[in-house]
Amino acid sequence: MNIFTKFGYRFYQKTLYVAAMFLHWREPHVLHGYGSLADVPSSFSARGVSKPLVVCDKATIQRGALEAFFAACARKNIKYAVYDGVLPNPTVEQVESGLRIYLDNACDCVVAVGGGSVIDCAKIIAARVVRPKKSVNQMRGLLKICKKLPVIYAVPTTAGTGSECTLAAVITDADKHDKYAVNDTALIPAVAVIDPTLTESLPPMLTATTGMDALTHAVESYIGKENTSYTKRKAVQAVQLIFDNLAECVRNGHNLDARAAMQRAAYLAGLAFTRAYVGYVHALAHALGGKYGIAHGLANAVLLPKVLRRYGSSAWRKLASLAKAVGIADKTDAASVAAEKFICAIEQLNRELNIPDNFGGQVDAQDISELALHACKEANPLYPVPQLWDKAVFEEILTQV
Ligand SMILES: NC(=O)c1ccc[n+]([C@@H]2O[C@H](COP(=O)([O-])OP(=O)(O)OC[C@H]3O[C@@H](n4cnc5c(N)ncnc54)[C@H](O)[C@@H]3O)[C@@H](O)[C@H]2O)c1
Ligand SMILES: [Fe+2]
Repeated sequence: MNIFTKFGYRFYQKTLYVAAMFLHWREPHVLHGYGSLADVPSSFSARGVSKPLVVCDKATIQRGALEAFFAACARKNIKYAVYDGVLPNPTVEQVESGLRIYLDNACDCVVAVGGGSVIDCAKIIAARVVRPKKSVNQMRGLLKICKKLPVIYAVPTTAGTGSECTLAAVITDADKHDKYAVNDTALIPAVAVIDPTLTESLPPMLTATTGMDALTHAVESYIGKENTSYTKRKAVQAVQLIFDNLAECVRNGHNLDARAAMQRAAYLAGLAFTRAYVGYVHALAHALGGKYGIAHGLANAVLLPKVLRRYGSSAWRKLASLAKAVGIADKTDAASVAAEKFICAIEQLNRELNIPDNFGGQVDAQDISELALHACKEANPLYPVPQLWDKAVFEEILTQV
């Protein structure tokens, strides 16, 4: 990449950094504790709402995760509508189907119970309610909504994306195999419901990969150039919690203390990256998710050590301070040594979680150029990564996996 392009990208990022200081940042109100989903209906009247659209997937209904919530609604005589058609990597069509149910039933708020896919779909349903003339594709990018949304209750059943507190929603245009982010502070949910019992049913592999998504948020936000002391603090806490609890959640999914710690980590990592952005790992993961439906957390887990190592000396100092902060490296280690110890610790964690170090032939060599271009377009100039790459470096990473 030539020096003028680099200068232009960094100038764009600095401008955004300054502009972000004037945005209306807020954190969701948090309802937490075992079984807290059942407390949600009691809070409706205080928020001036009475008819929720429950957004979820069929499996969540089938496992009975919503029964206590439905029972609490019945006790309070609260009517609700349900859209249970969300699938992983939610699409524009799914948003439109949910929107129709919201409008047909005159709903006035959204309760999203599920993983990041469900919460993201619900966020964009709410965005379409207030922006009926703007298509989902037209919301792609930054600040295309800029209008107060109906109240969103975000209730995560995975501990990974942090979508319950972020300004982002990731949607796929299925026709074009195009997965993209919508970013607007209006999308930060009004309420996050952090109920660890909801993640107990998450199978080991999903626990592992969604947890690695949270780790990727924390690390990418920490090593980027737009972090603040606030986002760095949140990222360090998240990394510590993940190294201490993720393997235990995978080994023993019924350890609710470990599950609660992972939910907290995902939330903290969400707070960090919603202000400080992600990086090239996410850009590549989105390209792979859009093209082949590769699960987001798995894509991140496989790519994270490879991208960190490729950043080379540009990321050493920050990776080293992260490694030292969470006790992976000694205080006296040189930056290069501590950074490498941190990357090795991620690889070791992946092995412990049975996460492979490549996509097992899922990535077609013929698609590499197109995938690299997609990642490059998503990331440049938006993501304040430690080192700027052009398409050729993305191709190099994709070839490795
Ligand atoms: N908005 C954001 O800030 C943000 C951040 C990162 C990722 N994302 C997006 O979020 C999506 C990924 O979300 P995710 O990783 O949470 O996974 P997911 O929502 O796609 O769910 C993955 C699978 O897990 C199942 N599942 C969820 N909770 C379960 C439970 N408790 N028990 C059993 N099965 C359960 C789902 O039914 C689904 O089959 C991607 O589209 C990604 O791009 C969004
Ligand atoms: Fe993510």
